[in-house]
Amino acid sequence: VPLPQHIQTVDPAHAWRLLNTGATVLVSATHGGRSNVMAAAWNMALDYAPVPKVAVVIDKSTFTRGLIESSGRFALGAPTQGIADATYTLGSLSGRDAPGANKLDALGINWFVPEGLHDTPPLVAGCAGWLLCERIAEPHIESTYDLFLGRICAAWADERAFINGKFKPIEQIPPALRTIHHLGGGEFVVPGAQVKAQSGGWK
Ligand SMILES: Cc1cc2nc3c(=O)[nH]c(=O)nc-3n(C[C@H](O)[C@H](O)[C@H](O)COP(=O)(O)O)c2cc1C
Repeated sequence: VPLPQHIQTVDPAHAWRLLNTGATVLVSATHGGRSNVMAAAWNMALDYAPVPKVAVVIDKSTFTRGLIESSGRFALGAPTQGIADATYTLGSLSGRDAPGANKLDALGINWFVPEGLHDTPPLVAGCAGWLLCERIAEPHIESTYDLFLGRICAAWADERAFINGKFKPIEQIPPALRTIHHLGGGEFVVPGAQVKAQSGGWK
C-alpha cells in the first residue's frame, strides 16, 4: 500500500523528536567545593512505589557527570518558561569552562539549598519543583548508554504550580511557571491546554 503523500520519511536520528519528551530538567551536582548544573531533556520517571525512582541521560562529555559519580547524588529541577533562557544557557555552556567554582554564579543564575541540608546540589530558583536523588550505581548502563538512575529521597515544589502531589489545572498556572518541553535547537513547547479523557468500554 503506497504511503499517502503527506507522510514523509524521518531520519531515525531525528525520530526521538516525535516522542513527547517530558519536561526538560536541570541536573545539578556538587562535590569537593564545585557545584554544577546542566539541562537534560532525556529524562523519565521510573517508578513511584515502593521506591520512587528517575532515569536521566548524562553524557560523558558533561562536567556534571563527574560530580555525580564522585558524590553519589544529584538533584533535578523542572525549569519553567520564566527561566527558559537560563535553561538553554546551562545546556549550552560547560561548567568546565566557568570562571569560578559554581556555574550558576558564573552565569548570574539564582539558586538555593533547603535549610538543614549540607553538601546538597544547588536547586535552581524559578523551577516548578525539585527532586533530590541518590544515584543508584549501575556502571554498565551508565557507561554503555549514559543512563543514570536515581532514588528520589526528597522533593519540593512551588505551590503556585504543583500542590497536593500534582500539577494544578494548566489554566491556573501562571505562564511563567509552566514547564518547558524541548523540541530541539533551543525551541520549547509550553503546555497550554488540558483535557480530561473518559475511559471507554469494549465494542
Ligand atoms: C534543552 C537541552 C536539553 C539537553 N538534554 C541533554 C540530555 O538529556 N542529556 C545530556 O547529556 N545532555 C543534554 N544537553 C546538553 C548538556 O546540557 C550540555 O552538554 C551542558 O553544557 C553540559 O554542562 P556541564 O558540562 O556544565 O555539565 C541538553 C542541552 C539542552 C540545551
